[in-house]
Amino acid sequence: MTGEEIKKLNEELSNTSAQEVIKYFAERFGDKIALSSSLGAEDQVLTQMLVEVSPETKIFTLDTGRLFPETYDLIDRTSRKYKKNIQVYFPKKKKVERMVNEKGINLFFESVENRKECCFVRKIEPLQRAFKGLDVWICGLRAGQSVTRKDIEVVEWDENNNLLKINPLASWSEEQVWDYIKEKKIPYNILHDKGYPSIGCQPCTRAIMEGEDVRAGRWWWENPDTKECGLHKR
Ligand code: ADX
Ligand code: SF4
Repeated sequence: MTGEEIKKLNEELSNTSAQEVIKYFAERFGDKIALSSSLGAEDQVLTQMLVEVSPETKIFTLDTGRLFPETYDLIDRTSRKYKKNIQVYFPKKKKVERMVNEKGINLFFESVENRKECCFVRKIEPLQRAFKGLDVWICGLRAGQSVTRKDIEVVEWDENNNLLKINPLASWSEEQVWDYIKEKKIPYNILHDKGYPSIGCQPCTRAIMEGEDVRAGRWWWENPDTKECGLHKR
């Protein structure tokens, strides 16, 4: 799709609800579209919406091997509630073994380079496998999440992966997300009630303090401008 076509689509969909956006793409792309879920609050909202409008559409998650036990519990609770298999992608065993044996089990604290390598082995490579056969991926990004995301739009072209990327909640506030979760009684990660608004891998996520940015607890030891794992290169 060209930049012009994407611009037009964003204009056309500017007054469309998030659920209608999902429906629009699910109807057009059939089995070529999937939701990538980290089981975060936004992804749980999207799961609820997707199951309502297109129950057959694939939902997948990347299990890095370093997730919180609470996240594994939520994968289980979510698939039971929606009677839907959440497809899990694991990193390649050999690559993890080599990296960890060469650089240490917690290599990510040592440099941004090590951290990016770990994110590549544990998330990006499995994500690329998950993309096989897909034309579109749906994500839970919001512009309000961080400085690195302030310009995101509902429809984007993902140059790194040659896919259309849909962010139905691009303009939603955190409050809207939580109102929706409460209204629809959507299952969510219990860590959200303990000061963790954004949850990734256990060693790389901490609770945030009053007044901090919602992603302040992710890779908290790094500079805010570098805090993307590569899943959402812009
Ligand atoms: S991250 O890049 O910093 O990890 P974040 O946790 O904010 O991303 O999630 C943003 C979106 O990326 C999620 O809504 C989801 O679509 C996708 N995503 C992030 N982590 C995963 C994961 N482990 N599995 C599948 N999708 C993920
Ligand atoms: Fe590795 Fe941390 Fe990235 Fe998870 S978030 S893949 S543990 S560096």
